[in-house]
Amino acid sequence: MSHAQQHVLSSAIVLALLVVLGIHIFLFPMYTSTPPVHHTKISAYEQALCRTTLKNNIRIPTSEWRNNPCPKYGIVSVVQGGRLGNQIWEYASVWATARRTGLEPFMPRCILKTLEEHFENLSIPPLSYIGRCTMDVNQIVNSLGQWNSTEQNIIIPRHAAYWSLILVWLDDIRREFTFKPSLKIYAERVLKRVAEKFNLVSPIYVSVHVRRTDYVDYLWQKLKTRPAPVSYYLSAMDYFADKYSNVVFIVTSDNIAWCKYNLHSKRHKMSFISDNNGKGPGKDLAVLSVCNHSIIDYGTYGSFGAILAAGETVVYNVTAYFSTLIADVLPNWRIMN
Ligand SMILES: *[C@@H]1O[C@H](CO)[C@@H](O)[C@H](O)[C@H]1NC(C)=O
Ligand SMILES: *[C@@H]1O[C@H](CO)[C@@H](O)[C@H](O)[C@H]1NC(C)=O
Ligand SMILES: *[C@@H]1O[C@H](CO)[C@@H](O)[C@H](O)[C@H]1NC(C)=O
Ligand SMILES: *[C@@H]1O[C@H](CO)[C@@H](O)[C@H](O)[C@H]1NC(C)=O
Repeated sequence: MSHAQQHVLSSAIVLALLVVLGIHIFLFPMYTSTPPVHHTKISAYEQALCRTTLKNNIRIPTSEWRNNPCPKYGIVSVVQGGRLGNQIWEYASVWATARRTGLEPFMPRCILKTLEEHFENLSIPPLSYIGRCTMDVNQIVNSLGQWNSTEQNIIIPRHAAYWSLILVWLDDIRREFTFKPSLKIYAERVLKRVAEKFNLVSPIYVSVHVRRTDYVDYLWQKLKTRPAPVSYYLSAMDYFADKYSNVVFIVTSDNIAWCKYNLHSKRHKMSFISDNNGKGPGKDLAVLSVCNHSIIDYGTYGSFGAILAAGETVVYNVTAYFSTLIADVLPNWRIMN
């Protein structure tokens, strides 16, 4: 090695040392200045995700979950919001997000309580299952888009419906939402009774779900959209009646009186099956799920009923809205005006 070469080499070494030193002095403080760790007990955090006060009537006896290991990485959970339809999508969003990320999913007990009235064998355990563990509340993000480390917990906001993620695993989601035997029997009986009433042998059952009450205001305030007109429901029925000769329409709604008053047709055989007081959302959803095809307007409840039925679905045209966006993705969904 010549003298000049030795000089270049030693300069390079000095330079390299300066760079390493520089990284230590100027960049490491960036890593250490992350927010202070703030641990919260998960049992207390579960309560914060719920609208109602949790009672201590947990389905798993305390002795059984005392020894549950605490999660090694972040978890996925959700804030409770809305009625049955919302809470189903909140659950499904947690389920799909956990599946995509590999993080462990846990549900606030208040949502499980709503869902377990209607479904059995739901796979996601309650947060109280790891209630004795702690969670760093500075490591919380609200969506998959913000999530960049396995240490972070994903807490999905209320009313969320991560439909594009959920639609990836449709068959598995349908299996996850298995109705209780009593609801299955109820739904099959309803269909049988309708067939007998119209004297039909194995007809094609098309459900019609009409969302009214609070949604009428919601549509106007959020989207400046008026509710679907009567003509929408009737043309959707025409579509199925043109396609099949032996069709009967099973009408469900949160305002069945509105339907009985407004939906008239000499052409179509219709049966109005919801309770007058709008109670029994689980029963109606079970009926929607056993029908062959679906007509829905909008909303989480009707959309999920149609997903469970897995037939052809007609949906009302609300520009760039949740239910219409699903229709753009699923081949057997069609948008009508
Ligand atoms: C589902 O839960 C019921 C009790 O609710 C139980 O009897 C049944 O064995 C479970 N089925 C499966 C497949 O785990
Ligand atoms: C990771 O996510 C956190 C929380 O959203 C954010 O503050 C941070 O900047 C992100 N880091 C990178 C490298 O994207
Ligand atoms: C229509 O739905 C009924 C009730 O779920 C079912 O028994 C029947 O096999 C279905 N018909 C067709 C053609 O899929
Ligand atoms: C839905 O409505 C939008 C805006 O009014 C319109 O551009 C679109 O063609 C409609 N879609 C269908 C399938 O009718």
